[in-house]
Amino acid sequence: MVLHRNLGPYDTTAIGLGEMPLTIEDNLGWQQGIDTIHAALDAGCRHIDTAWAYYCSGGEEQTGEKLVREALSSWHGPRDEVSVATKVGHYRNFTDGTPTWDVDGRPENLILRGKQSAKALGVEAIDLLYFHRPDPAVPYEESIEAIRQLVDEGVAKYAGVSNASIGQIDIARRILGDRLIAVQNQYSPIYRQTQDTLDYTGKVGLGFVCWSPLGGYRRKKDETVFDPFRAVAKAHGVSYQQIVLAWELAKGSHVFVIPGAHRPRTILDSLRSGEVRLTAQELAELG
Ligand SMILES: NC(=O)c1ccc[n+]([C@@H]2O[C@H](COP(=O)([O-])OP(=O)(O)OC[C@H]3O[C@@H](n4cnc5c(N)ncnc54)[C@H](OP(=O)(O)O)[C@@H]3O)[C@@H](O)[C@H]2O)c1
Repeated sequence: MVLHRNLGPYDTTAIGLGEMPLTIEDNLGWQQGIDTIHAALDAGCRHIDTAWAYYCSGGEEQTGEKLVREALSSWHGPRDEVSVATKVGHYRNFTDGTPTWDVDGRPENLILRGKQSAKALGVEAIDLLYFHRPDPAVPYEESIEAIRQLVDEGVAKYAGVSNASIGQIDIARRILGDRLIAVQNQYSPIYRQTQDTLDYTGKVGLGFVCWSPLGGYRRKKDETVFDPFRAVAKAHGVSYQQIVLAWELAKGSHVFVIPGAHRPRTILDSLRSGEVRLTAQELAELG
């Protein structure tokens, strides 16, 4: 069984499916996306992470949310066990001809996008709605007030913040109170700069969701950072990706991972990371 943890009121899996690779640039097509989500759910995954902005730059908007909706409605398993998180505040654009991610954290935009997200997901209320990324042109408080309005109006059940510092988490805590259940920040062996927020969320009782937990796939990365994980993987007879995810999950019982996948094989492997038992010595070596 896939490892379960409590994310706010949700009893869900500590390993969720990061939907982004299924619908942004270089995805492998709609049916592959449906098959990948179905494979994850069939294997016991009960959390899916998507976003308003998970579509190809210049293409149809919200295809990530629409894919999740179609996959869930054509799945024959227990839909009510699955929590779905989405995010608002980003949109896709082109900069110098390259697909990019822009932000728009104006309250009126967030309110509009939140309602569009609920519609695309086909739900009355979104399980978990994150503010995707701070907009430097908008005071953080104003963006978070809009997220609170969406929860108060019943568009979302619970809220989260993403790409947030401790100061911003505190603003969100003040405005959202117990509506705030999660912080989603980048965290992996190649990106440990958010360790302070991982520690802080544990202290204040929030879930910490690691994005790009395997170091991401869109940019070239320093592969040598993963060598110690490869060594431990060899001893356990599993993939080094399972060791990376298990190491992250061992950082605290409030930690969640949402590995991305383009195909069933990779998410099926990742879902087994909760079974890996790392020794105290291995954890000390991995840092
Ligand atoms: N909040 C934010 O601002 C933000 C930003 C970025 C991402 N995210 C979220 O985080 C999720 C994950 O991030 P990500 O997709 O960028 O990167 P990632 O999870 O670090 O890496 C995904 C890559 O790892 C590979 N992979 C996954 N599990 C594997 C396994 N067990 N064995 C071998 N390879 C494996 C996948 O391979 P295949 O391609 O071969 O399947 C994919 O190429 C996204 O899907 C999205 O939901 C959030």
